[in-house]
Amino acid sequence: MGILIKNGEIITASDRFVGDVYCEDGKIAAVGAGLSKERAGDTVIDASGQLIFPGGVDAHVHMELPFMGTESSDDFETGTAAGVAGGTTSIIDFVIPARGQALLDGLAMWNEKAKKAVSDYAFHMAVTWFGDDTLKEMAVCTREHGIPSFKTFMAYRGAIGVDDPELIQVMEAAKGLGALVTVHAEHGDAVVALQKKLLKEGKTHPRFHAQSRPAPIEGEATGRAIMLARMIGEPIYIVHLTCKEALAAVTEARSRGQVVMAETCPQYLLLDDSVYEKPGFEGAAYVMSPPIRPKGHQDALWAALSSGLIQTVATDHCPFNQVGQKDMGKDDFSRIPNGAAGIENRLALLWTYGVLAGRIDVHRFVDLFSTQPAKIFGLYPRKGSIVPGGDADLVIFDPKGTSTISAKTHHHRCDRSIFEGFEVKGKPTHVIVNGRVQCTDGKLDVQRGAGRYLPRRLGPSQGAQAF
Ligand code: URP
Ligand code: ZN
Ligand code: ZN
Ligand code: ZN
Repeated sequence: MGILIKNGEIITASDRFVGDVYCEDGKIAAVGAGLSKERAGDTVIDASGQLIFPGGVDAHVHMELPFMGTESSDDFETGTAAGVAGGTTSIIDFVIPARGQALLDGLAMWNEKAKKAVSDYAFHMAVTWFGDDTLKEMAVCTREHGIPSFKTFMAYRGAIGVDDPELIQVMEAAKGLGALVTVHAEHGDAVVALQKKLLKEGKTHPRFHAQSRPAPIEGEATGRAIMLARMIGEPIYIVHLTCKEALAAVTEARSRGQVVMAETCPQYLLLDDSVYEKPGFEGAAYVMSPPIRPKGHQDALWAALSSGLIQTVATDHCPFNQVGQKDMGKDDFSRIPNGAAGIENRLALLWTYGVLAGRIDVHRFVDLFSTQPAKIFGLYPRKGSIVPGGDADLVIFDPKGTSTISAKTHHHRCDRSIFEGFEVKGKPTHVIVNGRVQCTDGKLDVQRGAGRYLPRRLGPSQGAQAF
């Protein structure tokens, strides 16, 4: 049975018009005005006065991630469900094998965990060490499993982080495979040195997490990763970029014509480091890497979204409960699990504080939220657009009304919200995932395991040039 959505204002990265969308067998069957395709048994949704966006693609999330002695608190079911509640209908999670573990063994573990996803999912593969078989395994990931993007961590030394020789090997391997390297850019050794120094001085409070990873540490690593990608002639994608220093490195590379892409997250756009001064241990909720930056960086990031310097907004959704997880670091900030929840809030925050605040226009909003992540990572046009033949993933959005984000009402399995008290305008009235209405006025009707794995392929080389 199909769904006919009538008289909505359809907004994509390039178009805006009032029309209808007909969905059949999980796909978009037709888009236009005055469609009268419906048959007996079809659902008809009157979207007059409402907007229709392509479902969100969150290219950076961590469900059930074993990390820092615990595991992120949303699993693939609860995490994707929270995504659906917030208009995100596809995710790309990271397979993160332990150091010494084969990539394909890591993939087998993630395949198992992700079976309960309610919406579609893809994987990036993290390369956390480079062994004799890594190149071969990267080829198998790219060619047989539809995983043409590889993640490296320049931070987290001694755990999942790589050193420069390993990073170079990953980049060279990816170049040979036509795959894309994504980088968490922080100077890992400098972080460790600062952590040691601060702790030796008895500085254990969550605020010292931020002091142990100041912006220059990210700026340096971003520049170094970009330089290595340039040397090798490989495109590069910087995840969760947070600061002016890193933006400067991207700007410089772009001005030379280097293919550098960057992502930021709502928390870096909307919060400043005063969050670490919350009473008691509450600042721990904001402990993530890179940390929330001092005032001033946020405006630079908004400008970079609007100018196109940054291509995507993802969430880096990686929740940990304050009680029972974050409190592992009560006496030592370096033991606070890094990460926070956010998958449900991306649309609402970008809409309210981006579009309505005049910082980005509606097309740029759709681009950042859905189209660009789908294009960059090889999911387009199946995801990220509203075109016949594409998957029927749609958000019907009523711009009227106001609500307040709170851990008391969010769908994240987490006892804190880093956006607690943020007012947001409008709400999704219907979120359609693979041709089924899975959320109506905030009420979820999801199916455990209905999500499908999305194998990906990247387009032809994105024109990276070596020195
Ligand atoms: O603090 C963070 N960002 N936790 C998740 C892992 C990562 O670095 O993306
Ligand atoms: Zn309805
Ligand atoms: Zn990271
Ligand atoms: Zn992450």
